[in-house]
Amino acid sequence: MRLRLTLPFLFFLFIPVLVWSQTMKSPNGLLELGFELNQGVPTYTLTYKGKPVILPSKLGLELKNKPSLLDGFEIFELKHNNFDEIWAPVWGEESQIRNHYHEMEIHLEQPSTSRNLIIRFRLFDDGLGFRYEFPAQSNLAHFVLKEERTQFAMAGDHLAFWIAGDYDTQEYDYTESRLSEIRGLMESAITGNISQTSFSPTGVQTALMMKTDDGLYINLHEAALINYSTMHLNLDDKNMIFESWLTPDAIGDKGYLQAPGQSPWRTVIVSDDAREILASRITYNLNEPSKIKDSSWIKPMKYMGVWWEMITGKSTWHYTDDYAAIDLNSIDYSNARPNGKHGATTANVKRYIDFAAEHGFDGLLVEGWNVGWEDWFGNFKDYVFDFVTPYPDFDLVEIRQYAKSKGVEMIMHHETSASVRNYERHLDLAYQFMKDNGYNSLKSGYVGYILPIGENHYSQWIVNHYQYAIEKAADYQIMVNAHEAVRPTGVGRTWPNLIANESARGTEYQAFGGSKPNHVTILPFTRLIGGPMDYTPGIFEMDISKLNPENNSWVNSTLANQLALYVTMYSPLQMAADLPEHYEKFIDAFQFIKDVAVDWDKSWYLEAEPGKYLTIARKAKGKKEWYVGNVNGNESRLSNITFDFLEPNKSYIATIYTDAKEAHYRNNPQAYTIKRFLVSNKSKLSQFSAPGGGYAISITEADKSATKGLRKL
Ligand code: NOJ
Ligand code: CA
Repeated sequence: MRLRLTLPFLFFLFIPVLVWSQTMKSPNGLLELGFELNQGVPTYTLTYKGKPVILPSKLGLELKNKPSLLDGFEIFELKHNNFDEIWAPVWGEESQIRNHYHEMEIHLEQPSTSRNLIIRFRLFDDGLGFRYEFPAQSNLAHFVLKEERTQFAMAGDHLAFWIAGDYDTQEYDYTESRLSEIRGLMESAITGNISQTSFSPTGVQTALMMKTDDGLYINLHEAALINYSTMHLNLDDKNMIFESWLTPDAIGDKGYLQAPGQSPWRTVIVSDDAREILASRITYNLNEPSKIKDSSWIKPMKYMGVWWEMITGKSTWHYTDDYAAIDLNSIDYSNARPNGKHGATTANVKRYIDFAAEHGFDGLLVEGWNVGWEDWFGNFKDYVFDFVTPYPDFDLVEIRQYAKSKGVEMIMHHETSASVRNYERHLDLAYQFMKDNGYNSLKSGYVGYILPIGENHYSQWIVNHYQYAIEKAADYQIMVNAHEAVRPTGVGRTWPNLIANESARGTEYQAFGGSKPNHVTILPFTRLIGGPMDYTPGIFEMDISKLNPENNSWVNSTLANQLALYVTMYSPLQMAADLPEHYEKFIDAFQFIKDVAVDWDKSWYLEAEPGKYLTIARKAKGKKEWYVGNVNGNESRLSNITFDFLEPNKSYIATIYTDAKEAHYRNNPQAYTIKRFLVSNKSKLSQFSAPGGGYAISITEADKSATKGLRKL
């Protein structure tokens, strides 16, 4: 169904009124947008069920060496449109997405400069999107942004789940505080990272999740970040007004634009039910439809990796300890002594292939397979990797053939060390090398400060690089999972070969000292609003010193919580991150990871409270299988759910993997139980979750012969 309705245009030719206002309601009437042109300054407001979400907030942009686009405007034209369609994503939390909004398109004219600006608002039932559009015009062809000055005025001192505004990393734990407390907590919120550039004592990143005292959940983010710099938010904490703060480039400019052109969408998702924030599809709906016509080569997948052993320090990415510095043009590794700890050896890779094949995994990632890791970060080294030359102990051809014979796809790894120029220089050869060797998917990474020096991970130029790498990969039919790249903004709708990003604090931090136990109850409300995350769950051994005696990190999670993450952290790409030997030890629990789907027909958000808990049920795409995941915060809790998402009048077998009563993320994480029950869509469950714990359920239709002796739930 596709319906586009354009209401009769209303023309206003330079009507010089002091205050001009318009309102628009969402399709269900619960949200109301107000727009006002007050003495030439555009402002907007938003309410939900009559409660304020955004108080009067200014709109506009400041330009470099040109008069600003902040004031002096008059109304030129107004258009109202309605739109309603259902589209089918290539992968997703559901197989059909409704895109339904009311639109207001406000054409402004700045008579003193003879320039035009359009502000386009789209009001959905679950929130607002708006952007600036710069129509083609003679007085505004090319221009440089000094700053975008979009305000989001809050109606109170809300509770916020925030990470420090930073031009280079999102790999932080979330801080939960009142808005007024951000300034006092900022210093402790900025924990160490290999590259980081924070910019303000009240600057935070999006997606920002908030809760108001009168029970509204408000989420601020952006959609379709294309050819523009990443937006952060800076808080005026006297007046509780956020203002956009774009990421600068090496010389401090915030973006180079030309007309016609537009900004990304600024989004405000709102509801009085936290579950609706998770169910919102605004971010995808504000992106363009897929540009990949034949997407048959894009396949959700579950994978393992020669990876966790390097992350924990059990083995190394690099091959030799002989050299403090290497030159890729002249190095001869055949003279180097192997350090004996290199992870990507042919024998070790084959061991993983065997395990992955035996347990039905689609793919295997191998890091540290290619030359250059001896001095790979922290040195601003330009020519750091060539992406095509394997280490001497990694027999690429033998591994390729072995993996193929076992039905396991090899996943390529390109760590760029943030040397973006070097990566672009090698990109075509590197992608061609992948195709020649049977690799269809890629994990890329951008660790360290960006080269060219002075650029930031989230400035326009680098955002354009990430996009270039995705689009070029599509030419080669390669799927991309980019780490340390900019956080996603729904671009996976347009380029579904972007199957995941990291772009947040992933499981690796559990081996770098640990993450907060409730981290995974916040990520779906923040980072995942923009798209899937390669969170790399599935850690069964929480005591990292058992892998590497020199690493005292502890994974702040129970084993059952690790299982639940496959459902709660939506991604079409899911890793089983731990070592084969740890899965062998808990082979009954590992069954859930083997069974769980990675692509879905439908999702039900059963319980949710950011920072505390969430419970999600999903139906596997094209299959009669359902999976449920519950993750829990710092306190133990009883989760109460009904199984009414199942089809009526049918019998199902539910296998429930739960924390044992005595489980606790800190001192008893591996205490779990597995029980099987008969369930129907009338069944109810009241289930204990430990601190940092949770549960996972797999549900299949009951085959009569298999139900003997099973208790009804
Ligand atoms: C950081 C990534 O997040 C991690 O997954 C990867 O192993 C290292 N960089 C090395 O590329
Ligand atoms: Ca990372």
